[in-house]
Amino acid sequence: MSNSQDKTFTLTNDQTGESYKLPVLDGTQGPSVVDVRKLYAETGHFTFDPSFTATGSCKSRITYIDGEKGILQHRGYKIEDLAEKSSFLEVAHTLLYGDLPTEKELAKFTKDITYHTMVHDQVNYFFRGFRRDAHPMAVMCGVVGALAAFYHDSLDIWDPEQREISAHRLIAKIPTLAAMTYKYSVGQPFMFPRNDLSFSENFLYMTFAVPPEPYKVNPVLARAMDRILILHADHEQNASTSTVRLAGSSQANPFACIAAGIASLWGPSHGGANQAVLEMLDQIGDKKNIPEFLERAKDKDDPFRLMGFGHRVYKNFDPRANVLKKSCDEVLEDLGIDDPRLELAMELERIALEDEYFVERKLFPNVDFYSGIILKAMGFPTSMFTVLFAVARTVGWVSQWKEMIEEPSLRIGRPRQLYTGPDARDFVEMKDRK
Ligand code: CMC
Repeated sequence: MSNSQDKTFTLTNDQTGESYKLPVLDGTQGPSVVDVRKLYAETGHFTFDPSFTATGSCKSRITYIDGEKGILQHRGYKIEDLAEKSSFLEVAHTLLYGDLPTEKELAKFTKDITYHTMVHDQVNYFFRGFRRDAHPMAVMCGVVGALAAFYHDSLDIWDPEQREISAHRLIAKIPTLAAMTYKYSVGQPFMFPRNDLSFSENFLYMTFAVPPEPYKVNPVLARAMDRILILHADHEQNASTSTVRLAGSSQANPFACIAAGIASLWGPSHGGANQAVLEMLDQIGDKKNIPEFLERAKDKDDPFRLMGFGHRVYKNFDPRANVLKKSCDEVLEDLGIDDPRLELAMELERIALEDEYFVERKLFPNVDFYSGIILKAMGFPTSMFTVLFAVARTVGWVSQWKEMIEEPSLRIGRPRQLYTGPDARDFVEMKDRK
């Protein structure tokens, strides 16, 4: 980040005629930012940006997105290359430490992660307090937050070694907890992790294997799972990542911060969209009903939106969706699945992409449009889709949290507001209230 004194942004107060010069900061890629940190001290004004559409909340070296050009890079590497040529643990290493691992580094990182795949035995009993029909994301919010009650030896966020252990524990244990969540909901026994399998193979094994039967992981499904995890691993300062950073800025422990991220991810405008896509396709039911639902999506008085369409940042295409569309074809072909929902989804995509409303607003399928279809074909119930997103995004959350804690100028996040409530008024005694 450079802060050249000669690059400034001048702001003029039309009421007083006074001008203020604000520094302009340059990143390595992307638009420069106007540094407003001293704005209040110098002008008595705050900025107002309720949904953060024009606010950079931090500096970060992890992920870069160019929404106009459909670019997503992790540590400078293109997402298309990472999805095609690397594994999820290679991407995790890259996000966490800044570079693709060498063979030796990957072997060590794999060992560090697999060493932590089991959860404390007492966690099993924790599960029993939940209803079997609880939404898996509700269970995840609870059990991940509870990890802080089990791993007291890695809670000191100022100790780099403890931070590292917590990061490894979270990346390793969240897939185990996610699989346990599924097993609990279907009444099957929990499966212990198998450290001889790859990250994605082990996750499929813990989810779908049962003790009395041998389970052979389908390599096409393991590859598709790995790709889904890579594509969801990080996405810059989105709602859940910003939640993790804000929670962490108060120096809360990492397990609590990641639980906060899971809660934020759950919403249908964010990670919950992949579940919502499948529910929407079921609701539409038949190709002949598409025009009716498109009209509803355009109607401002109707809350219905086309789930899996549109993105806050990508305004031309979502590069993750392009990669996943290919994976989707591979998986369905391998499994020999002829899902009428896929045909419906493709028709919906075709019609929406030609529709003036969607074209004008640059609304096109995002990553969740395809991930839901693949996950369904792999045998995951819709309620597990967002949990899988959380398994992948944990790597991004942990990397962003660690980067923030290691920043020497860390301060608690504390936005201000535009107050629109009542003016100051006198207290009214009960007997005089009307
Ligand atoms: N269906 C119909 N209209 C839409 C949709 C949609 N899916 N998305 C946006 N619009 C319209 C919106 O009504 C607005 O129209 P107008 O300008 O006439 O008022 C315009 O497009 C701009 O939308 P916005 O609400 O200002 O956009 P946003 O940046 O606030 O919201 C979004 C982004 C992703 C929340 C939204 O597009 C949406 O709700 N999509 C469906 C949910 C979804 O698929 N979410 C997953 C996002 S990708 C995974 C992730 O990163 O979490």
